Amino acid sequence: MKRIAIFASGNGSNAENVINYFQQHRCGGEVALVICNKPDAAVLDRAARLGVDAVVMPRAEINDPDKLLPVLDEYGVDVIVLAGFLLMVPGFLIESYRNRIVNIHPSLLPKYGGKGMYGRHIHEAVVAAGERETGITVHFVSEGCDEGEVIFQASVPVAEDDTPADVEAKIHELERLHFPRVIRETFID
Ligand code: GRF
Repeated sequence: MKRIAIFASGNGSNAENVINYFQQHRCGGEVALVICNKPDAAVLDRAARLGVDAVVMPRAEINDPDKLLPVLDEYGVDVIVLAGFLLMVPGFLIESYRNRIVNIHPSLLPKYGGKGMYGRHIHEAVVAAGERETGITVHFVSEGCDEGEVIFQASVPVAEDDTPADVEAKIHELERLHFPRVIRETFID
């Protein structure tokens, strides 16, 4: 059984979707743990509801190998999934889990990636630029922000009158459709 840790910072709709998928498909993977840097994040309620352990670790603890690595060891974590995780991943974690950390980014990287490009900011920039399509990217996490090797992309049309909220809804639907399966195909099958 491959044991997955999800790192998240906020709402957690992707975390919930991934947990559900691995609870419903007996495919050799399971979400063992959620790590969250915000004590009041909705993802914590979702994890509790789904019976998955969650650990709150503020930024300083996530950046401290002596704090973070023992928690991952305790849960026997094999792979790490970033799903709406807003902190930079510390270098020691990338080294310890080389090619075993993936992130989902809500744009077609390399477009709309990098510092400051997260959440609604991305969809606002996409609409402001008059893009006629956007999408999602699942990629390995490397030292550069949003720069790791791309594993999967899917796109969706942007209509002329779409608002950033409309685009966000389309993106969430794409994420819901694809993200768990891509994790499975990358690490388990
Ligand atoms: C998602 O759009 C994801 O691609 C991005 O941040 C958003 C998180 O949403 N990294 P949620 O917390 O999973 O609801």
